[in-house]
Amino acid sequence: MTARTLRSSSMIIALTGFMGCGKSSVGRELSTLLGLPVVDLDQYIVRKAGRSIADIFAEDGESFFRDLETEALSDLLAGKCTLENVLLRRTPPKQAWVPPSYDAEGGTVFKGTLPRQDNAKESFILSLGGGTIVRPENVRMLKEKCKVFFLRAEMETLKLHLGGDQSQRPLLRSGGFEALLQERAPLYTAAADYIIDIDRLSPMQIAGIIANLVT
Ligand code: S3P
Repeated sequence: MTARTLRSSSMIIALTGFMGCGKSSVGRELSTLLGLPVVDLDQYIVRKAGRSIADIFAEDGESFFRDLETEALSDLLAGKCTLENVLLRRTPPKQAWVPPSYDAEGGTVFKGTLPRQDNAKESFILSLGGGTIVRPENVRMLKEKCKVFFLRAEMETLKLHLGGDQSQRPLLRSGGFEALLQERAPLYTAAADYIIDIDRLSPMQIAGIIANLVT
């Protein structure tokens, strides 16, 4: 597959995968590596709605949350909101920028350089919610506007990452983890441009793999 490179055009790098796969941590590492802003879809929804994800689910249900999610995704991909309002991390000053080169154990490392250009200001990293790919219209938008990376993980890895803290993840409270994972696996695969098996990799190593694929 030919990736549009970040050097020659703008790109939205979307991270998808089940709850606990590390989308947010990988997004932060990738932001540092590539010098691009990172936006978290859930955080954007929370900011826009003025309520936590848990409260939205509890008060209005999953279907309402999905409506908000689709609207938020559409806003972000259509540039309807200023990135400044939704940034987790700001883009570093525009200049020739040399990302750090890591010698991470056994992982792919990013050793390139990414000259900052005007068109790079349109590029950003988008960390999706675990269920964003459930709605076909969301997948259509993602395919049209993004390079989608599926961070695929074994159930044991996900459970390890999630630990005991499931208070902010309403769908996990009711159990059914395995069934949900099975049901969604083909949806992640269908939405993805690239699939990365993340089980034995650190967020930094995963970010290195993605950086190599897009630059
Ligand atoms: C959900 C995943 C959550 C959040 C919401 C629903 C899902 O995001 O969007 O609780 O349906 O899998 P994370 O994957 O970031 O936890």
